[in-house]
Amino acid sequence: MSKEVLNPDHWERQYEEGDLPWETWRPSTELQHIISERHIKPCRVLEIGCGTGSSAVWLAKRGFEVTAIDLSSLAIQQAKQRAADDEATVNFQVADLTKPVAFRDQFDFFFDGGCYHAVRLADSPAYFQTLVRITRPHAYGLVLLGNAAEPEDEIGPPTVEEWQVRAEWGEHFNILQLRPFRFDRQYRGAKRYLGWSCFVQRRISSQSNLRVHLRTAPIDFLQELSDERNNDPISTNRGPS
Ligand SMILES: C[S@@+](CC[C@H](N)C(=O)[O-])C[C@H]1O[C@@H](n2cnc3c(N)ncnc32)[C@H](O)[C@@H]1O
Repeated sequence: MSKEVLNPDHWERQYEEGDLPWETWRPSTELQHIISERHIKPCRVLEIGCGTGSSAVWLAKRGFEVTAIDLSSLAIQQAKQRAADDEATVNFQVADLTKPVAFRDQFDFFFDGGCYHAVRLADSPAYFQTLVRITRPHAYGLVLLGNAAEPEDEIGPPTVEEWQVRAEWGEHFNILQLRPFRFDRQYRGAKRYLGWSCFVQRRISSQSNLRVHLRTAPIDFLQELSDERNNDPISTNRGPS
């Protein structure tokens, strides 16, 4: 895989050829569990690598204000059709999270169901640089990654060791929960691949976050510092409780 995963043509080709081993046409079961277990209330949410939009539409139907991005224009086209069919409002955009993506406001919650574990093979610093900039201090997030406790094969997700998840995500976010789970099966009888369910909360105090903010948005950063104490979404209607 390596750098190929940052090439939009790589993903576009997969959608063109219908070579989508991750596609279940249903919202992620683990996302549904976390939303329910963590009592996450409707808020501004970003889905990263949304594919054909099942989870984004599911969130929108539950009152979340959803922006959902994907590198593949074909995936976004299908996602828009799905939202129209389901009468759901989602702001779908073709975008690359490793590039400076512009959004009107910052997000209270984000969901990445199988994008980061590919992107990290090529450029995880660029991914975190954007993610830190577009999430509010104390924002929550759920990341689903392949789990190296079972061997990787040709079809399943790229796998990641526990220490790698902790090192990479722990640099920018507090890891509130890291548990093994199984990705949804694609069709009856198909294998359910082992994954990591990583539930995180953004912090602003790490050295790397300070560096990112001072480099990219010093005014926003100063505003964040002053807002931080009152802004934890856990205690407001805008975020999870
Ligand atoms: C394994 S698929 C998962 C799709 C969807 N989350 C699902 O579970 O059906 C990974 C998705 O991430 C998208 N993607 C890869 N790199 C990306 C990037 N840098 N920014 C945005 N999307 C990206 C791909 O186009 C692909 O749709």
